[in-house]
Amino acid sequence: MSTEHFELLPNAAPTATNIREDILASPGFGQYFTDHMAHVRWTLDGDWHGHSVRPYGPLTLDPAAAVLHYAQEIFEGIKAYRHADGSIWTFRPEKNAERFRRSARRLALPELSDADFIGSLKALLSQDHAWVPTPQGEADECSLYLRPFMIASETFLGVRPAQEVDYYVIASPAAAYFKGGIEPVSIWLSEHYKRAAPGGTGFAKCGGNYAASLAAQKEASANGCGQVAFLDAVENQWIEELGGMNLFFVYQDGRIATPRLTDTILEGITRDSVLTLARDEGLTPEERPISIAEWREGAANGEITEVFACGTAAVITPVGELVSDQERIRLAGDNGNPIAKRLRTKLLDLQYGRAEDTHGWLTRLV
Ligand code: PLP
Ligand code: COI
Repeated sequence: MSTEHFELLPNAAPTATNIREDILASPGFGQYFTDHMAHVRWTLDGDWHGHSVRPYGPLTLDPAAAVLHYAQEIFEGIKAYRHADGSIWTFRPEKNAERFRRSARRLALPELSDADFIGSLKALLSQDHAWVPTPQGEADECSLYLRPFMIASETFLGVRPAQEVDYYVIASPAAAYFKGGIEPVSIWLSEHYKRAAPGGTGFAKCGGNYAASLAAQKEASANGCGQVAFLDAVENQWIEELGGMNLFFVYQDGRIATPRLTDTILEGITRDSVLTLARDEGLTPEERPISIAEWREGAANGEITEVFACGTAAVITPVGELVSDQERIRLAGDNGNPIAKRLRTKLLDLQYGRAEDTHGWLTRLV
């Protein structure tokens, strides 16, 4: 896929090298942005056009732009990794492109082709490759986090699918999402708020789902927790996922289970990769309904030996405890999370080019 169909409009005042290097030494997550952004415009009568890579900067939107009122918006999250030889790669981008189209269909937005999705990442990286950090050792998970998103930019207050839409990609250098790195995190169990309901938008990566999770996230923070676990909206007993990550349970007998996909769960690309890597490791992956009672009982009787969260931002992070107003669910034994660590190392080794890409998961960007 070529980047030639993206016109280059270079930033005349890019970040000074010393400032960029200071940022890359300690980027945090989502705080700093590169010098350019990719852009493609869609109109009902003109399809996708105007492909460009242009200076990063504020958007000009009419106050009546539909996205500001009705949240017709979708996004993706994907990373660029620097390999030891300096080349830059990304992980399973065709899966993100496919999910982006699935989200677009649900939000009545136009679908973007693989060529434009992957082409936009390549075009942006052709300019901003110096912003991809170099990992310092094998435990370092620094990368350039890429955020493609699509908004309904039409100036119109009637409620119907927009006829003018903009697609952008911005990029932000990133260290570990959780400050403690792979230290186990505490998770808050949302007993009142729901993230998604059958027939709704849970499976789509749309801003509204995250807006709906924030009141619960506020409760989580107030209770010393870094993320929220959501239960299903109908029976209030089936574990779905966290606000921004999927969940896995490791059993004493070698099984590793994750909630089966429904229209209320986001189909994580890390989740799918973990299922494959777990099988490669001789574990028995299961996708099935998992109840909160199973978590409670398995933690108490030692059948569940590890719980971990996974996603592009979080990679693989062990869950130390599940906290609610009523209880604290902790695993009976603390075994140091060897499976989560092994899978995490396997995934990072692949992404950073330290292991052979036997599944064909890497795409070169630069
Ligand atoms: N679930 C939600 C709600 C998310 O926001 C994410 C992050 O993108 C995930 C799961 C994990 O998905 P992925 O592994 O594709 O990043
Ligand atoms: C991602 O992992 O890409 C997400 O969107 C999750 C969010 C918590 C940053």
